[in-house]
Amino acid sequence: MRTGVIKGLGSALPDQILTNHDLEAMTDTNDAWIVDRTGIRERRVGGMTSELAVRAGRQAIERSGLDPASIELVVLATTTPDQTVPATASTVQAQLGLRSGAFDVNAACSGFIYGLVAAQAMISMGMGNILVIGCDSLSRITDYHDRGTAILFADGAGAVVLEAREQPEASLLSWNLGSDGTAAGILYADIGGVLVMEGREVFRRAVRVMVDSARAALDAAGIDIADVALVVPHQANLRIIESAASKLGVDMQRVAVNIERVGNTSSGSIPMALTDAVGKGQLSPGDLVLLVGFGAGMSWASALLRWDGA
Ligand code: UT7
Repeated sequence: MRTGVIKGLGSALPDQILTNHDLEAMTDTNDAWIVDRTGIRERRVGGMTSELAVRAGRQAIERSGLDPASIELVVLATTTPDQTVPATASTVQAQLGLRSGAFDVNAACSGFIYGLVAAQAMISMGMGNILVIGCDSLSRITDYHDRGTAILFADGAGAVVLEAREQPEASLLSWNLGSDGTAAGILYADIGGVLVMEGREVFRRAVRVMVDSARAALDAAGIDIADVALVVPHQANLRIIESAASKLGVDMQRVAVNIERVGNTSSGSIPMALTDAVGKGQLSPGDLVLLVGFGAGMSWASALLRWDGA
């Protein structure tokens, strides 16, 4: 079976730290409320999407030990491209010195999983190694006078290199991708505009779609949640993560969380949380790992992977 094995991971954050106390000076909010209602203490802001994506991508390639010349495609999940045209993936490909295909995926905070599943499908069709990056610079489209969004959104990137291999079992066991475009109005940014969100409504739907999507992916592979070593959820709000975990019947020891210091980085969130979890030794070869995301669209996505030990 031809499959893509995660060989290297990387992440990147801008240098500028924006704390909850910094936000108190910008909008009507306070540190205690933000920590209590979201779990976030600080986030990073600044820089362009391509800049962060290049840093994360370079780290993932170096750690993979693979020859950069063997990378045949760059898939960049982002909802904040540097420009409308060209695809930011092309800018990233050039800056990494790769000779490969390149395209962007926009499925908001679910984008990295959409990109990962697309990359796996392309590998199974015969393509070689693929670099998949999730990156957003949401600070560029955040209104810092709007306390409903300013406290959450931030910038960051995560990346994985998929090595194309022939092996008995697929690395991606199952997936679930979905969208409900009738809910587009609860979280959007017009071209040239800032993020507008009905926070409570997004929260309510988020828990439901995460649970349903995770269950659909588990069912498709015939796997029980008890056999999953680690769930890596989109880092949107600690209360959303805790609520979804409790409904899925998974204790928080088996959930990757790094929202406290990075906030919600949209497409960057899941690959960054995965990179951090691997760095902390939370995954061992053979483990099952479940990625679960949701975001504007609304969109949602899950992917169940057998960890091969990057
Ligand atoms: O990537 C996906 C994107 N988005 C999300 O996942 C966001 C999902 N939604 C959320 O995370 C939450 O809805 C928020 C964090 C945005 C808001 O938290 P909440 O617990 O839903 O607050 P709320 O809007 O229900 O407001 C509760 C109270 C209100 O005061 P009263 O009416 O009870 O007196 C608000 O005025 O908290 C007040 N409030 C705030 N106070 C201080 C709302 N936002 C703030 C704030 N600072 N930033």
